[in-house]
Amino acid sequence: MASLTIRQLDEQLKKQLRLRAARSGRSVEDEVRTILRAAADEGGADAKETVSAPKPARRTDEAADTKRVLLIIGGGIAAYKSLDLIRRLKERGLYVRCILTKAAEHFVTPLSAGALVGEKVFTDLFDPAGEFDVGHIRLAREADLIVVAPATADLMAKMAGGLASDLATAVLLATKTKILLAPAMNPLMWANKATQRNLAQLVADGVALVGPNEGEMAESGERGVGRMAEPLEIAAAAEKLLGAGASLPLKGKRILITSGPTHEPIDPVRYIANRSSGKQGHAIAAAAAAAGANVTLISGPVNLPDPTGVNVIKIETAREMLDAVETALPADVAIFAAAVADWRVANAGVQKIKKKTGQATPELSLTENPDILSTVAHRTSQRPKLVIGFAAETEHVAANAKAKLARKGCDWILANDVSPQTGIMGGDSNTIQLVTAKGIEPWPTQSKQDVAAMLIARIAAEIWK
Ligand code: C5P
Repeated sequence: MASLTIRQLDEQLKKQLRLRAARSGRSVEDEVRTILRAAADEGGADAKETVSAPKPARRTDEAADTKRVLLIIGGGIAAYKSLDLIRRLKERGLYVRCILTKAAEHFVTPLSAGALVGEKVFTDLFDPAGEFDVGHIRLAREADLIVVAPATADLMAKMAGGLASDLATAVLLATKTKILLAPAMNPLMWANKATQRNLAQLVADGVALVGPNEGEMAESGERGVGRMAEPLEIAAAAEKLLGAGASLPLKGKRILITSGPTHEPIDPVRYIANRSSGKQGHAIAAAAAAAGANVTLISGPVNLPDPTGVNVIKIETAREMLDAVETALPADVAIFAAAVADWRVANAGVQKIKKKTGQATPELSLTENPDILSTVAHRTSQRPKLVIGFAAETEHVAANAKAKLARKGCDWILANDVSPQTGIMGGDSNTIQLVTAKGIEPWPTQSKQDVAAMLIARIAAEIWK
C-alpha cells in the first residue's frame, strides 16, 4: 500500500482537514482515519479491515508535565482578543481547552477558536456528544487553571451567585481549580455597586484577577476602567498562578542584559551619573532566569540585590560595560536596559582636583562614549539573534524610538516616556511602547516585573518561531 504522510498534502487540503478535525474534536490523524474508514465502508468489508477505528478525542499534544488551562470566553467585544490569548498561552507550552458561552459566539466562532486550540471547542451543557466524550465535570477536573476572558458583568454575577445555567457556569461551579478572571465591561458597569459587590464576593472566594485596565472602550469610544487586560498580561498572570516552572520557555538560551547607570569619573572621587535605578534591567534578568535562560547581567552601580540564578558582572564606566558585553558573547538575545552615559570626561584627573582660592573653576571637557547597543547590533560576527534596546524619551516617544531602531540597527526598542511627571525613572511601574519593524504596540502601564514577564514571553515566542 502506498504511504502518504499528512505533511505531504497540499496546504488547502491540510487546512480543510484541520478544520474538520477541530469541528469533530479529533486529531488530524484520527480525522483522516475516519474519512478512510467511511470510504472503506463503501468499498466493502475487506477494505474496512485495513483501516483501524479512530481513537476517542484526547490530549494528543500533551506531555505528562504540561499544565492545562481551560479558557472560558465570555460574550463581550474583547472576546476577539481571547483568540490571541489562546496563541499566547500555547506559546508558553500550556495545553489549552476552550469553552465559548452563547453570548461569546456572537463575537467569535467555535471554528476559529477550535482552529487555534487545535481541538473541539465546548459550547453546550447538554451536548450529548460532548457529555459522552468529555462532560462538564471532566472539563472542570482536567484543568490546572481556569481563565475567564473576557469575564463579563453577567458571568461575574452568575459566578458570585453560584448559578450553573450553562456549560461555562456549570464548570466554574463544579471546580476546585484556581480561577483567573480578566474582567471586561463598560466603565459604568464595572463601577456599578452590584458588580463591585460581586467582585468582592469572588475575591473573598479566592478568585484571582488580572485587569481591567484603564483605557479606551472598543465599542463606544469612551474611556475609563473596564478594558480587558492585554493577552500577554493575562498569559503572564496565568503562568504566575500555575507556579514557577510551569514552563521554561527560554531553557538553554543565553541572554545578555545590561542594567543600571554608568559612572564616568571626573577624578578618583567624583563622577558623572544619571538617575537610572536598574530596576527594569534587573527585573528582566530575574524573569529571564525564571524562564530557564542562562543569564549574564552586566550592571552599573545600583542599590539592588543580585537577581537569583543570574551571573552578575559589575562595572562602573561605559567602556568597562562594552568590554564586559563583548567578553560575554555569544548570546542568543541581548537586551540593553542600561542608561549608559553618552559622554565621559576626557581630561579626568588622575588625582583629586583641588579647589584653590583665587584660581579659575576647572573646565571639564567631554568626549563621546561608545554606543554599546549599536556596536553589538552592527556586529558581523556573533551578533545575537535578537538585539533589544530601550529608548527613554521625554517627548515624541514613538517617533524618536522608530528613528532609533533604524539608527542603532537593533530589532526591537522598548520606548518609554521618562518625563519627571511620569515617575518612571526610579519608580516601580513602567509604560512601554514596543517598537519593531512591524509597527508600534502600546503596552499597559504595569509594574516593572510585569513588563519583564511580558518581554520574556515575547522573546520566547520570537526565538522559537
Ligand atoms: O541613544 P540612547 O541613549 O537614547 O539609546 C538608548 C539605548 O541604547 C538603550 O538601550 C541603552 O542601553 C543603549 N545605549 C548603549 N550605549 C550607549 C548609549 C545607549 O548601549 N552609549
